[in-house]
Amino acid sequence: MIILGIESSCDETAAAVVEDGKKLLSNVVNSQVDIHAEYGGVVPEVAARSHIEVINPVIRQAMREANVTWDDIDAIAVANAPGLVGSLLVGTLAAKTLAELYDKPLYPVHHVEGHIYANFITVQQSPNLDLPSKQPAFPMLALAVSGLHSQLVLFEDHGNYRLLGETLDDAVGEAFDKVARMLGLPYPGGPAIAQAALTGDPKKYAFPKAKLKSPYDFSFSGLKTAVLRAIQREVGVDHTFPSHELPGRLNDAQQADFAASFQHVAVKTLVDATVKSTQEFYPASVVIAGGAAANQELRSQLAERLPIDIEYAPMSLCTDNAAMIAALGYYRAQAVQPTSVDDTKVFPSISMTDTVWA
Ligand code: KG4
Ligand code: ZN
Repeated sequence: MIILGIESSCDETAAAVVEDGKKLLSNVVNSQVDIHAEYGGVVPEVAARSHIEVINPVIRQAMREANVTWDDIDAIAVANAPGLVGSLLVGTLAAKTLAELYDKPLYPVHHVEGHIYANFITVQQSPNLDLPSKQPAFPMLALAVSGLHSQLVLFEDHGNYRLLGETLDDAVGEAFDKVARMLGLPYPGGPAIAQAALTGDPKKYAFPKAKLKSPYDFSFSGLKTAVLRAIQREVGVDHTFPSHELPGRLNDAQQADFAASFQHVAVKTLVDATVKSTQEFYPASVVIAGGAAANQELRSQLAERLPIDIEYAPMSLCTDNAAMIAALGYYRAQAVQPTSVDDTKVFPSISMTDTVWA
């Protein structure tokens, strides 16, 4: 079964073609990062307009690179939740129009659940990615960490999962983005902090890890404030000093030490909860997903501390893409009826545990 996936929930316009939920035939991502970097974050109206401009060429390119025509496509999957409403609408409307025009079944899917399914892509048409050697086994523990979500989810099977824990405030990617801004590092903050941290001392500042009732929940907002206060102390100003004026007062070594110390605690928070979950629930596999899953420190701390082996999706399938949407679409198509074009709507803030696999 060949599925065309479409993704436009935030600032990437993406289309991909995937066969049987695991073979990558093409994966086209048009990133708007350069456009939004100027503003230090995603500007919703600008994102929606840019999606409109490129969605058709991106879909055409994905089909061309996969070497398929509309006759070959068995179904269309689209991320219709969660995300920026204007952005979600563009991809969803494109998918609905194409489903109607070419008479294809349509499977709307959840973006964060899609991130997890990047780990099911294990075969490729043109061998240029370092893919996992096999698909994850169930029960599967998934750590989903993006700019908007930080969740630990236990999957008994496709479509049968429960939330073990989640962030009580900021998502971890969001914390990376906000701390990067304090340090004068560019947007998106994740890769910038990871890069700066390479030359920093992760033990220079002992930032506290939030203590929460559940060992599977996370909190990053206290850590973010602790970093802010430490920077203010370091440069000799009090807590009323505006954070946007701090970067100019830090030298490269201080910036690197703050980046490394923050990253160390943020990653340890995620790894502690993941390791604890494996001790309680004995999953057969552990996967990580979402933009922050590209973080190298997270990968090495997990590899070191997890009691079972872990394989990682390549970086390009961790950040937003449509291959993960097409992969999830395949498994949904095995389990549920397609959604009618008229009933396909966007849900900007629904959690994956509130979507139904009927
Ligand atoms: O999944 P994603 O591409 O978009 C959302 O669904 O949000 O995730 C983007 C987030 C951003 O907050 C970005 O700073 C973070 O993922 N990110 C990283 C890294 N690369 C991207 N965070 C930490 N380390 C990285 N290497
Ligand atoms: Zn995402």
